[in-house]
Amino acid sequence: MTAPIAIIGAGIAGLSAAHVLNAAGHEVHLFEKSRGSGGRMASKRSDFGSLDLGAQYFTARDRRFIDAVSQWRIQGCVAEWDPALYQYRSGALTPSQDEQPRWVGIPRMSAITRAMVGDLPVSFGCRITEAFRGPQHWSLQDADGHNHGPFSHVIIATPAPQATPLLATAPKLAAVAAGVVMDPTWSVALAFKTPLDTPVEACFVQEGELDWFARNRCKPGRETDYDTWVLHGTSAWSREHLDASKEQVIEQLHGAFAELIGCAVPEPAFTLAHRWLYARPAQGHQWGALADADLGIYACGDWCGTGRVEGAWLSGFDAASRLLDHLE
Ligand code: FAD
Ligand code: NAI
Repeated sequence: MTAPIAIIGAGIAGLSAAHVLNAAGHEVHLFEKSRGSGGRMASKRSDFGSLDLGAQYFTARDRRFIDAVSQWRIQGCVAEWDPALYQYRSGALTPSQDEQPRWVGIPRMSAITRAMVGDLPVSFGCRITEAFRGPQHWSLQDADGHNHGPFSHVIIATPAPQATPLLATAPKLAAVAAGVVMDPTWSVALAFKTPLDTPVEACFVQEGELDWFARNRCKPGRETDYDTWVLHGTSAWSREHLDASKEQVIEQLHGAFAELIGCAVPEPAFTLAHRWLYARPAQGHQWGALADADLGIYACGDWCGTGRVEGAWLSGFDAASRLLDHLE
C-alpha cells in the first residue's frame, strides 16, 4: 500500500490540491494549525452575525476555476454578490458599478473550504514545524513534538514566510519562498444597531488609510439584525501600524470610515480588529507552484500566482497536477 500524501495548510490552495489528488485516487492527509479551514478565507462568527474578515469576494477568470465556482454554486456554498459599488478618490465618493461578476461563500466565506473539506482527513490545531525526508518516505513533526507519517510526498500550502522553514530539505525552494515579501492588512468589523443612512454597499478607496470597506450584511445569506461593515487598511498603513493596539486600529479606521461614508456614523454596538500578518504578496508571480519532484516536495499558495483566491486555488491545482505528472 502506498503512503498517503501530506498537505500542510487547509486554506483554498491546500484543499484545491487535496481535491485533485483525491479525484486521482490518492489518499491525502491535511494538517492545519487553526481550529477550522479557510485560512485567509475564514469568517468570524459573532452575536452580530458572521463577518468575513479576510477575502471579501472573488472573481473567476481562468476556465478551470470558473468550472470549480459553477460546482460550488450547484452545491449551494457560493452565490453571486452584486453590491452597490462605489469608489472614493480625490475626496469624493461616487458610484462605480461595473459588469464584473463577484462571488462569495454562503452563508459566510468559510463555507467554501468547509464544503471542500467534506470527508477528507484533516488534523486541525496541528502546527507543523518540520518536514523530514527519510530513505523512502516523508515524516512531519508538529509544535507539540509529535511525529506524523510516513508520507509519500509533501505539499506545503501556507503563506511563503511560513513555508520557508518547512522547505528546509529543499534549499532551492526555501530560497525562493524566503524571497517573497508578504504585506499585512488590518481588518476591522463594526456592527451598528441602526442601519447607516447610505446606499453604499462596497467601496474601493484610493487614498488615505483605507483600501476597501463593505456592508457585510448585504452579502447573500448574512442574516443579522445589525448593520455590519468590514473595513480594510491599506498595506502601507497596516505595515506602519503593525504593532498598534486593536483599540487604536479600530479608532483610526472607524474614524477614517466615518469621514468617507458621508452620513452620520453612531458609536458601533460591536467592534473587532484582526491583523493579517501575511495578507498578500507584495507582487504577483507566475510560478504556478514550486516543485522538487525528485524529492517529492511541493509548495503552493496565492504567493505563487496572482495573490487572490483564484490564484491560490490555481496554485494548489498546479502543485497536485505536477505531482501526478511525476508519478506517471
Ligand atoms: P491561506 O488562506 O493563508 O491558507 C494557508 C493555511 O495554512 C492557513 O489556514 C494557515 O492556518 C495554515 N498554516 C500556516 N502555517 C502552518 C503550519 N506550519 N502548519 C499547519 N498549518 C499551517 N482575495 C480575493 O480574491 N479577493 C478579495 O477580496 C481578497 N481580500 C482579502 C482581504 C484580506 C484582508 C486578506 C488577508 C486576503 C484577501 N484576499 C482576497 C486574498 C485571499 O484571501 C488569499 O489569496 C487566499 O485565501 C490564500 O489562500 P492560500 O490557501 O494560499 O493561503
Ligand atoms: P476586482 O476585479 O473586483 O478588483 C481589482 C481591482 O480593480 C480593485 O482592487 C480595484 O482597485 C479595481 N476595481 C475593480 N472594479 C472597480 C470598480 N468598479 N471601481 C473602481 N475600482 C475598481 O477583483 P480581483 O481582481 O479579483 O481582486 C480582488 C480584490 O481583493 C482586490 O480588490 C484586491 O485589492 C483585494 N485583495 C485584498 C487583499 C488584502 O490583503 N487586503 C489581499 C488580496 C486581494
